[in-house]
Amino acid sequence: MKAKVIISDIIRRQIIDYIRTLLEDIAEVISLSDWRSIGSLQIIRDADALIPLHERIDENLLSEARRLKIVARLGVGYDRIDVEACTKRRIYVTHTPNVLSNAVAELTFALMLCLSRRMIEADRYVRTEWAKAGRPTLPLREDLAGKTLGIIGLGRIGTEVARRAKAFKMRIVYYDKVRRKNVEEELGAEYLSIDELLSTSDFVSIHVPLTPETTLLIGEKELRRMKKTAYLINTSRGLVIDEKALCRALEEHWIAGAGLDVFSREPLPLDSPLVKMKNVVLTPHMGTHTVETRRLMASMVAEEIRRVLTGKAPLNLVPEQRGIRFN
Ligand code: GLV
Repeated sequence: MKAKVIISDIIRRQIIDYIRTLLEDIAEVISLSDWRSIGSLQIIRDADALIPLHERIDENLLSEARRLKIVARLGVGYDRIDVEACTKRRIYVTHTPNVLSNAVAELTFALMLCLSRRMIEADRYVRTEWAKAGRPTLPLREDLAGKTLGIIGLGRIGTEVARRAKAFKMRIVYYDKVRRKNVEEELGAEYLSIDELLSTSDFVSIHVPLTPETTLLIGEKELRRMKKTAYLINTSRGLVIDEKALCRALEEHWIAGAGLDVFSREPLPLDSPLVKMKNVVLTPHMGTHTVETRRLMASMVAEEIRRVLTGKAPLNLVPEQRGIRFN
């Protein structure tokens, strides 16, 4: 009998089909919605592998999944997976680092450019007013060259952002739990305390995983430290920022604006104050949403599942499980 792999049905159909093709010789891949419902839990009971996107994998779900050998997340962040509970049950947890760093770094720059050159407003202007005005009437905007980019979290994605910042001729400063001497040497990035970074940067971009330590890392105190002319970019997790404090900061102009791909609640409710603000650019948690990146992530996920189902150790275990062998 073939193994059973359950995949989140929020994942795009073409990616589910691709994973299905990659695993078809050894597994049946079933796409499933609402993993908490009684019907879904009954199906999860027979699963050998799970591929979650945003689904929460906790003790409750794991206690039903008696055959489960691996949770292979399509994505790098694994804040919705209870790794400790998986480890206790000898279930591997893997993720897809590296292959998505370019895509997220590109989106980070897209948000920065949208803010510095007001691209959204400019597009609307061409469609409605430019011809009537007869000459350009939009105010002059800002260069990225010469500005300071403060990167909070100089890991894989933060480093790709720094590489692009160098090409854009920006000054790069960063804060991280650990010094990244190699990146300092490669890109001339300067290490600062988080307070110094906030008070000197023209753009602050967040690239940390969501952990108890980083939850609400940026609150009122931090936002008030930023320059009035500075922009905040977040492509990591919404809960790293105190969103209520951010809304006040944007409404009362403590900062100039924000580019946000992630939110404390997703999808972002239409009655969120952010929706009406002019000084923000909003995208729907789409850092990794490119054809190339999603296919690479899908291949990684399929490879990890194949390895575990054929008795090999997975390659990209989450840090808490590194070096562990269950099968
Ligand atoms: C996206 O949010 C990811 O975790 O890869």
